Amino acid sequence: MIEVNGLEKSYAGNPVLKGIDFHIQQAETVAIIGPSGSGKSTLIRCLNLLEKPCAGSIRIADQQISAGAISKTATYRLRQYTGMVFQSFNLFPHLTVLQNVTQGLITVQRKPRDQAQKEAMHFLTKVGMAAKAQSYPAQLSGGQQQRVAIARTLAMQPKVVLMDEPTSALDPELVHEVLQVIRAIAEEAITTVLVTHELRFAQEVADRVMFIDGGKIVEFAPPSELFQRPKEQRTATFISKFLEAEYVI
Ligand SMILES: Nc1ncnc2c1ncn2[C@@H]1O[C@H](COP(=O)(O)OP(=O)(O)OP(=O)(O)O)[C@@H](O)[C@H]1O
Ligand SMILES: [Mg+2]
Repeated sequence: MIEVNGLEKSYAGNPVLKGIDFHIQQAETVAIIGPSGSGKSTLIRCLNLLEKPCAGSIRIADQQISAGAISKTATYRLRQYTGMVFQSFNLFPHLTVLQNVTQGLITVQRKPRDQAQKEAMHFLTKVGMAAKAQSYPAQLSGGQQQRVAIARTLAMQPKVVLMDEPTSALDPELVHEVLQVIRAIAEEAITTVLVTHELRFAQEVADRVMFIDGGKIVEFAPPSELFQRPKEQRTATFISKFLEAEYVI
C-alpha cells in the first residue's frame, strides 16, 4: 500500500530525513516512535506532501511521486488517498460536529447532503460522538474533539490514515478514550500510520513498530521483536529510558 524509497528531506540545508526506505502492507497498523526531533512528523508529513521531499520516491496505492517531479494531479491524488489526524484536532469552530464531518463529503466528494449526513452519523457513532452531532467544538472536551476529528478523517474513506501524536495535546484522563477509538481502527482493515509517544499502546496495537533516530530508520519490526528483542543497542536504550520514565510517572 505504501512504498517509500530513498526519502530525504532537509530544511535550509539541514538534513532531517537521511534516506528512508520501507514498505507498508494494506491493512497494517504501523507505529512510529523515536526521540524528539528525530524526524517522525517530517516523515509522516512527507507521505501526504504537506512537506515536499528533497529526494526519493513515495508510492501510495497506484500513485507514485518522485521528489523533484511532483505534479499537481499527483499531489491531489495523494491527498485524497490519505487522511491526517493532527495533535491539535483542527476542527472548524464555527461548524457543528456534524457539519465538520459532512463538510469534506459535500465540498470535496460532492455527495448529496442527506447522504453525507448519513455517512457522517455512521462514523460519529463509531467514535461514540453521535449524541454530540449538534454541538460546537468549543462545547466539547479535547478527547471528544479529537474523536470527532478522527470521525471526519474516516468519513472521507482514505486508503491510509496518518496520525501525528493524536493524544499528546490531551489531559491524561482524556487520552484513554481516544486510544480506545484508535484501537478499534487498528483492528479494522484500514492502513494506519501513527506517530506516538505512547510506547505501551504502540506495543499493543501496532502490527509493526518503526524506531527512527537522527533521520534514519534504526529498526522496523513487529512489537514482540522490537520491544522484547531489539536488534540495535539504540533501540534498547530508547525503549528502556522511555518505559522507566513512564514507570516513574
Ligand atoms: N518547518 C521546519 N523548518 C525548519 N526545521 C524544521 C521544520 N520542521 C521540523 N524541523 C526540524 O526538523 C527536525 C525534525 O523535526 P520533526 O518535527 O520531524 O521531529 P519529531 O520526531 O516529530 O519530533 P517530536 O517528537 O518533538 O514531535 C527537528 O530538528 C526540527 O527542528
Ligand atoms: Mg513530531
